[in-house]
Amino acid sequence: MLIHETIAGLRAARAKAGPGKRLALVPTMGNLHEGHIALMTQARDHADQVVATIFVNRLQFRPGEDFEKYPRTFADDCERLAAAGVEHLFAPDDAEMYPQPQTYHVEPPPEQAGILDGEFRPGHFRGVATVVMKLFQIAQPDVALFGKKDYQQLMVIRNMVREFDLPIEIVGGETVRAADGLALSSRNGYLSTAERAEAPRLFRVLTKVIDAVRDDARDFTLLEQGAISELRANGWVPDYVALRKKLDLQLPSAHDSGLVVLAAARLGSTRLIDNLEV
Ligand code: PAF
Repeated sequence: MLIHETIAGLRAARAKAGPGKRLALVPTMGNLHEGHIALMTQARDHADQVVATIFVNRLQFRPGEDFEKYPRTFADDCERLAAAGVEHLFAPDDAEMYPQPQTYHVEPPPEQAGILDGEFRPGHFRGVATVVMKLFQIAQPDVALFGKKDYQQLMVIRNMVREFDLPIEIVGGETVRAADGLALSSRNGYLSTAERAEAPRLFRVLTKVIDAVRDDARDFTLLEQGAISELRANGWVPDYVALRKKLDLQLPSAHDSGLVVLAAARLGSTRLIDNLEV
């Protein structure tokens, strides 16, 4: 695997691959787990060469969030990527990506980026969209893959690509879970032993919601409130549990199909997110 720390280095590798070669991009912030590796494997089905990126993007963290303590495990990550057969890793530092303060941004509309996670993390999706746009400009991929665990992020990126007419296919990867249902996430590493034992409740609560919807329950507010109460009763501080339309994450009406239930909740000092499609 070739490791590129500079934009020029990655561009040169892109040029060397030749115009006929399909390139897949898998952006990450590192601390890779099986969910990331599944995306790398999936990427292989879509392209001749896979480029992974590792960059902890300060633009998408708010003051007081975990930018400083976000786990950085570069050597392990490189081993895992090489074992997965990834050809190129782009791993710039802050000075390479933001040599001067980033004053131009991609600003997703509030109805997409100001709801759900965007309501609790204002500016987060602007930071994500801006760095992803930069990564797209740098790597010029034919296809890019993002995990469905960050469902709202995937929607924002799909819409950005469509509205800017970027010639990039966006592919969503299924969430990879531990045997007890907990969605794999770099932030799971923050959990204490007791919190880790409690954490799969988020998945169980969401499963109950989608089972009820499949059984034709149509009082969505009641289902959301039931899930929130169960989380609260077990020591969680939920930000939201919300049934939404898959396509645009807007509020569904009772006869809508194609739904997804999304949640974010704090367990101790760790904020976990998850979702399940109905
Ligand atoms: O999902 C992530 O890890 C990040 O939000 C991304 C897409 C790599 C942008 O920094």
